[in-house]
Amino acid sequence: MKKCYITTPIYYPNAKPHLGSAYTTIIADFLARVYREFNYETFFLTGLDEHGEKIEKVAKENKKEPKDFVDEMAKEFQNAWKKLDISYDYFIRTSDENHKKKVQKFLNEIKENGDIYLGVYNGYYCVGCERYYTEKDLLEGFVCPLHLKKVEKKSIESYFFRLSKYKEALIEFYNKNPGFLRNISIEQIMNSIEDLKDLSISRPKSQLTWGIEIPFDKNHVVYVWFDALLNYYTALNENKSLFWPPDIQLVGKDIVWFHAVIWPAMLIANNKPLPRTLYSHGFLTVDGKKMSKSLGNVVDPIEIVEKYSSDTLRYYLITKIGFGEDGDFSLNAFKDVHNQELIGHYANLANRLAKLAHSFGYKKRKWREIEKVKNVFYELEKNVESYNVNGIIRVYTEMIMPLVSDVNMLLNKEQPWQKRENSKDVIGECLNAFFHISLLLKPLLPYATSLIITNKSKICDIPKDESNLWIPEKENYIIYKKVE
Ligand code: MSP
Repeated sequence: MKKCYITTPIYYPNAKPHLGSAYTTIIADFLARVYREFNYETFFLTGLDEHGEKIEKVAKENKKEPKDFVDEMAKEFQNAWKKLDISYDYFIRTSDENHKKKVQKFLNEIKENGDIYLGVYNGYYCVGCERYYTEKDLLEGFVCPLHLKKVEKKSIESYFFRLSKYKEALIEFYNKNPGFLRNISIEQIMNSIEDLKDLSISRPKSQLTWGIEIPFDKNHVVYVWFDALLNYYTALNENKSLFWPPDIQLVGKDIVWFHAVIWPAMLIANNKPLPRTLYSHGFLTVDGKKMSKSLGNVVDPIEIVEKYSSDTLRYYLITKIGFGEDGDFSLNAFKDVHNQELIGHYANLANRLAKLAHSFGYKKRKWREIEKVKNVFYELEKNVESYNVNGIIRVYTEMIMPLVSDVNMLLNKEQPWQKRENSKDVIGECLNAFFHISLLLKPLLPYATSLIITNKSKICDIPKDESNLWIPEKENYIIYKKVE
């Protein structure tokens, strides 16, 4: 089975979705759409990481029970993803009964193998990160490097996962699968596991109640990361189990360690096949500054798509931010991209062609440069087959978008509006080119292309039939609103 199982991290529902969560989700959605276009069985998973102290605290601040609070937040997230045209196949919530049961089963299984034991944990805990740090990870004065706040020193009874036992197995896995870590330095991961310690995976109920109960000890609940990472496994119910293992896992650079080290070790411990790739992406700043509530520069993706379009946000995040690197979101740059590239190049071409076709007619012709479309197709197919996300994004930015300019240039050169002998041929050619370019653009501009490609054609049809034309039904296509 040609399949693609794509995951995003599951987000903490302590606040509404912001540009950072939208970023990963949009890239995952774009990829899911690409794979569907190539007829892969595709399963795109996203969802929420609902347990833990942080959520319990925010719920209390809102005078709500944790479950009621996360139920409301789940609606917010689902609503946001709908507005952003996110086509997930399943939305997992870690408070789902099914997830809880499977986490407990998984724990029982690895306990049977002797991988879980009761011990005492001494550590430095950051509430913001929901994790313990060792002293060497902290800044001077026992300060969390991310939140810049003093951490708490705690000694607690805890169950441990024998992570240290899996160091050699992890090294073997990385060596045998050099394509696993993408946009991630293997040296850094190797350094981080040099002195691999066992992992605390539970908390006594006296400290935390909002979590999954440890199946063999009623006095403990599962520590959030162990619970959260398992979502990728628990989400595949009965008939979806064929999708296992994940093919593309997308994560921000801050949570690479959990996914590159703990997650595979958990799976090795339970004899499960391991994920094919793990892609790290960078952090987005807003006008060069870190997004934060106190700076008041948190970008609300819903406001953006309501004012511009969901295509614009997707186009900007995918083609203007180097995937794997940090990037910046500036409203001025965003507006220019919307007005100049999406309206100026793409939508304007649709309008020019619609008007020409209605005024002068057209003949069924093939674009003289249709080879370019085929080349792009084969390049894209190659990257799809090798699950090369960087490659797929590169094909879109470097090969597909320039085709739009090619057609605009062809029109400028041939000037079919001058009523030349070949006007109908040129218009037909451009309609043929525009159909194929729009077909290729379906995953990147799902909204606009849904107005152009109204039949069931998919990208994978390109080598079979190059003769399709775009037949504009109207003279005017106002695809996007210009924003002043
Ligand atoms: N709940 C955990 C993930 C568990 S996955 C088993 C978590 N949640 S989070 O909501 O804090 O972050 C989710 C994702 O959003 C992370 O991949 C993080 O990198 C990403 N982003 C958060 N802020 C971001 C930016 N400013 N820019 C880009 N992505 C960022 O971590």
